[in-house]
Amino acid sequence: MKIAIVLGTRPEIIKMASIIDEILKKNLKMVLIHTGQHYDPEMSDNFFKDLELPFPDYNIEVGSSSHGKQTAKMMEGIEDILIKENPDILLVQGDTNAVLAGALVASKLHIPVGHVEAGLRSYDDSMPEEINRKAADVCSLLYFVPTEQAAINLAIEGISRDKIYITGNTVVDACFRNLKISQNRNISNNLSNLLKLDNIITLTMHRAENVDNKARLTEIINGLANLTDFNIVFPIHPRTLKTLENFDLLEKLDKLPHFHIINPVGYLDFLLLLSKSTLILTDSGGLQEEAITLNIPALTLRYNTERPETVGAGGNILVGSSKDKIIKFSEIILNNKDFRDKMQMAPNPYGTGDSAKKILDIILNKYNDNLLNIESPDEIMNGFKTKIVEINNNILVKDFEKDKNAKVRVIYNKSDLEFPQDDLNLNNKIVLFDLFD
Ligand code: UD1
Ligand code: UDP
Repeated sequence: MKIAIVLGTRPEIIKMASIIDEILKKNLKMVLIHTGQHYDPEMSDNFFKDLELPFPDYNIEVGSSSHGKQTAKMMEGIEDILIKENPDILLVQGDTNAVLAGALVASKLHIPVGHVEAGLRSYDDSMPEEINRKAADVCSLLYFVPTEQAAINLAIEGISRDKIYITGNTVVDACFRNLKISQNRNISNNLSNLLKLDNIITLTMHRAENVDNKARLTEIINGLANLTDFNIVFPIHPRTLKTLENFDLLEKLDKLPHFHIINPVGYLDFLLLLSKSTLILTDSGGLQEEAITLNIPALTLRYNTERPETVGAGGNILVGSSKDKIIKFSEIILNNKDFRDKMQMAPNPYGTGDSAKKILDIILNKYNDNLLNIESPDEIMNGFKTKIVEINNNILVKDFEKDKNAKVRVIYNKSDLEFPQDDLNLNNKIVLFDLFD
């Protein structure tokens, strides 16, 4: 059994780390491929060191360029490596260009793709990440989804339920495994002084729709400039540093006494910073998940999110780039204890920190059952019709499917959708299913 992994950016390294640990623990063969999309030590190498990961077997060194050029270079490099290494499965994580490139190339080579953190949808096609995750989901054989909502997203797009596994998110593994380590080690002087400050906001920002748009960025900064009761610590993404400089906004920001701009920090330092924060202000995907995992209120600087579970649970509020909303909600969180407590107590929708183990067990079972294959059929394939029916008796999903020679897609329970897990009772529910000839 040989598992290949493609990754290319900071969050992919963090979220793949527990999977890599699990592969090594199980003594499986692994090929680690870095696309080189993130290349500064503080965006890449430092995470391999902090998380004690083996360095990649290959680095394609694509560097920064337009999406088309970058993805094309990745595809060329990944194809050569996959042909040489011939792995049994390729794992990709999330929604970056590495995920798009890896999933496309592997599926064309008939190498099964396992998409970790599949099924997320913002329903905003202006985001490159939305296109990447949808395209990767078309190319995948196994879908490791973090929540039931993500499973439903795939089910209503027509992905067969037996390819979808609700595993939680490996970001929880990363948080739990590393928070304790981070609390028991020396930290850099620069950060240790900042950690002594009161009312810390950890701020991160790198989304194109915020940082490449001068009007939006200015509005956000005007909001932040008003938050003088806080100390805003801002480990700055290289993309954001460049655009702030280009828009002549960096100097203004740097002069604010409650604003502390620092270089991106390693994962252990960053977890410590998060754990000492009153509030997280972010447009990052991973930060929305880490906030609810670490019980820290989050304000998300976006108009939509592919992580709606965090909002539904009460731990995250979307404030867009609105100056007024940034100020209003930051102040409520600081001054209204009941409001803050409620946000802190929001239940974590992303599992308990054992996602990597679940994912590896599923892959191994599939491998042992000889199901990690993409082969053309050698029998005439049956057609199917999609039907809908209301059920008025006690019957489990798996028994309904056996009785009818059908595959359930999704279940309607009054006004809610449910994912058809094997042992779910269908009584009083409406079932959308594919009926085979
Ligand atoms: C990428 C991902 C995004 C993810 C983010 C995580 C895509 C489409 N985008 O966005 O989904 O949330 O990573 O951080 O895959 N740069 C450096 N040094 C580096 C890397 C980048 O200076 O090591 C600068 C370059 O000027 C580059 C810019 O940052 O042009 C943007 O980098 P890029 O990798 O294209 O996109 P991110 O914004 O990092
Ligand atoms: N992170 C970090 N150091 C920093 C900023 C972020 O270790 O200075 C981590 C953070 O904990 C999270 C991940 O980077 O796990 C998020 O990365 P990013 O926001 O770049 O990407 P996204 O999650 O939006 O794809």
